[in-house]
Amino acid sequence: MDRFVINGGKKLFGRVNICGAKNSVLPLIAASVLNEGVTRIRNCPKIRDVYIMAKIIERLGGKYTFSGDTLDLYTEGVSTWVLPEDLTGEIRASVFITGALISRFGYAETAKPGGCNIGNRPLDIHINALKSLNVTVSEGETIAFSGANAKSGKVVLRFPSVGATENVMMAAVRLNGTTTIENCAEEPEIIDLQNYLNLLGAKVVGAGTRTIIVEGVNKLYRGEIEFTPRSDRIEAGTFLLCGACAGGEIEINGLNIEESLSLCKIIRRNACKIYRKDDKMYTVKYYPRAKGFGRVIAEPYPGFPTDLQPQLTAAACLAEGLTVTEDRVFPSRFSYAEELAKMGADLRVLENVCVVSGKRLSGATVSAGDLRGGAALCLAALGAEGKTTILNVSHIDRGYEGFEVKLKSLGADIQRIVT
Ligand code: UD1
Repeated sequence: MDRFVINGGKKLFGRVNICGAKNSVLPLIAASVLNEGVTRIRNCPKIRDVYIMAKIIERLGGKYTFSGDTLDLYTEGVSTWVLPEDLTGEIRASVFITGALISRFGYAETAKPGGCNIGNRPLDIHINALKSLNVTVSEGETIAFSGANAKSGKVVLRFPSVGATENVMMAAVRLNGTTTIENCAEEPEIIDLQNYLNLLGAKVVGAGTRTIIVEGVNKLYRGEIEFTPRSDRIEAGTFLLCGACAGGEIEINGLNIEESLSLCKIIRRNACKIYRKDDKMYTVKYYPRAKGFGRVIAEPYPGFPTDLQPQLTAAACLAEGLTVTEDRVFPSRFSYAEELAKMGADLRVLENVCVVSGKRLSGATVSAGDLRGGAALCLAALGAEGKTTILNVSHIDRGYEGFEVKLKSLGADIQRIVT
């Protein structure tokens, strides 16, 4: 697997462009199954997770092409509702396709998902939500869903799961009557899904709030639909935190301050000044050294995102003073901490809490175990003294397009060693 070699201590200067949001695009690819035509996604990030989802569409009988930053999905030929086991094992978001398949064919079947590198990821919220719509679920070696008797109704999620919210939206669009989904996730990417579904002729309102209402329609549009997802707040947040580790002054093109408010509040207090240039362009001037971030709790949106928790913890390892991070979404998302400790970080994990006392770090050989944890190791390396080698960077490629290319263009000393 490829590795990165980073020589730390270089300040970052220049402009970075943020891609379309991974967490918008993956459910959009799932929803494309509902359009028996062509879905054109503009500003689509060229990342491994997008390719895996597109390949799943292909294995279901569809086709895709990726040209420049435009992904075209041809879903008329989708002819099976059984998800390919090898690929679904690789990507959690594949489960989002079940709702769309139930809508289109009345059936869906998927392999059981295992645990993954950021902790146990059960499917009970998805399954119970679909059962509330009278979908029959048979669990054996695989999970089989039958929507033969499905009907609209009220769905209450026990936790605001992003994927379950999206799955139920897709399952409900063609059911007669009104479906009300309560205790929904409020993540902004769900608004993109709602907008796409409505372009198809669905009637969905409420995305971005705790309650989503789906008015069932008999038919969906079949044809060519073009969609541009919002920009990736997690990628933008990662670059904001890169600067907190390395220092310097950068411009971020594609930062949505409202959607990144929980992070911006913390770093504005402790690490930098942020100046607006226009709607999406911000200049960020970093202090020579960030101060500890205090207590940070990763929670469902609009709380601080769990997908930035590892990167913030890495920045805390270099900051002056104390930070306590707690993850209430993925409580065991701290496996990267052991790797940071190899760089000299002073941090201790107790259940879902990590206590960090900032200090100088030094380069070491570390290994990325998952996407955001891997990014966190790069951030620590940018601010460390000496050379860090980060192994297994294919995890980072799942969610960042040209991460090292963008960092290099900002002046970081980073190299990909292809193996
Ligand atoms: C989505 C995001 C991911 C992000 C996560 C939380 C996409 C493609 N991925 O993942 O980047 O980290 O939201 O913001 O949008 N849970 C259950 N049972 C279920 C479903 C979830 O217990 O049936 C638990 C999970 O284990 C986790 C929590 O609920 O502890 C939140 O998970 P969820 O919001 O479902 O995450 P994803 O939709 O998979």
